[in-house]
Amino acid sequence: MKRLAILGSTGSIGTHTLDVVASHPDQFEVTALAAGNNVELLQEQVRRFRPRFVAVAGEAAARALARRLGSDGVEVGWGTDGVCCAGADTGADMVVSAIVGGAGLVPTMAALRAGKGLALANKETLVMAGELVTGEARARGIRILPVDSEHSAIFQCLENQHTNKVLRLVLTASGGPFRTLPREAFSAITPEDALRHPTWAMGKKITIDSATLVNKGLEVIEAQWLFGMPVDRVDVIVHPQSVIHSMVEYVDGSVLAQLGVPDMRLPIQYALTYPERRACPAARLSLEAVGGLTFEAVDRRKFPCLDLAYEAARGGGSWPAVLNAANEVAVRWFLERRVGFDEIPTIIRKALDANPHLAIRSVEDVLEVDRKVRESLERGK
Ligand SMILES: NC(=O)c1ccc[n+]([C@@H]2O[C@H](COP(=O)([O-])OP(=O)(O)OC[C@H]3O[C@@H](n4cnc5c(N)ncnc54)[C@H](OP(=O)(O)O)[C@@H]3O)[C@@H](O)[C@H]2O)c1
Repeated sequence: MKRLAILGSTGSIGTHTLDVVASHPDQFEVTALAAGNNVELLQEQVRRFRPRFVAVAGEAAARALARRLGSDGVEVGWGTDGVCCAGADTGADMVVSAIVGGAGLVPTMAALRAGKGLALANKETLVMAGELVTGEARARGIRILPVDSEHSAIFQCLENQHTNKVLRLVLTASGGPFRTLPREAFSAITPEDALRHPTWAMGKKITIDSATLVNKGLEVIEAQWLFGMPVDRVDVIVHPQSVIHSMVEYVDGSVLAQLGVPDMRLPIQYALTYPERRACPAARLSLEAVGGLTFEAVDRRKFPCLDLAYEAARGGGSWPAVLNAANEVAVRWFLERRVGFDEIPTIIRKALDANPHLAIRSVEDVLEVDRKVRESLERGK
């Protein structure tokens, strides 16, 4: 029986993870759940999965949740300390890190420092602090298991192979909802348009990130740290059907790919059961039904966020954290209709230009950069 703490349990990855748990009741037990403010769904999840501890982001939400749970015998915590405690101190064997955005960094690091196994969905953690996070994992002999479908695909294609014989990693991208939309039409894109992803059903932030393709840029940085690969050997190709989840090209010209239906329960389950494979509640892949697989190059002029991410990764130090913070602010502003879709890359560009390139030595350094970028953007608006 593997004991799991699920951080971000009310989100898209969190609920899919609980789906996987529910389909293997003899394999998994839930020790803790953590989320932001959705106390209604948390209450339901507590009743169903019986964790011993549950944490929320704010004190008011914690009080509301405690009232709802009554005398259920579940301890309720809140804030960063509460969420860290859910991962690090509840007897879990593995933490599923599925909080969205920079808020996931400190709890993920706390889980590693407590020696927990880590199934990582929160890519922002590796973008902001890839060297520190992977360094901590290495020092403790923890293998970070990727939940992101692209990285799970690469992880699978690398198994039993010599990584020094890898020429490049190729991340596939659906291209998002605006792949064929002319660039001139980008200023009129609404949040509703951008939230309509063609192949994946996901949380709002990653759905907007997929529409600007910054998500693919974040994934390039994630791959850099997960697989120790320089970003210039991580390529991106558009594959609208989202059936090939990513590929590895070896020095001899062989290319290994992992295929499957676009359903996050597949990579989530593989991270939870690794190195074993089990039947999964996701549908089976029918290539006859898919019919054809197509590929095209990314239109980098239309989607400048991808190259901004490469630039931040090459710069290293504080730059990826600047990119991440500026993107989080820009996405929130876009969802609040305060800026247009086409302004997102401009906001990131300006943040990269305005913030000095600093060395990063600790998580505190990262959090300081993150705070400064958010504050200066809010001041300038
Ligand atoms: N969705 C996907 O298919 C997918 C695929 C690959 C990678 N990822 C990555 O996985 C992560 C989660 O994505 P998602 O799509 O599942 O996002 P989501 O649906 O928006 O869910 C986010 C989760 O984080 C919780 N949360 C937000 N702020 C928090 C805080 N300060 N403290 C504690 N919990 C907090 C939310 O709680 P509330 O519900 O209460 O707000 C929710 O449970 C992201 O990093 C994303 O890039 C997602």
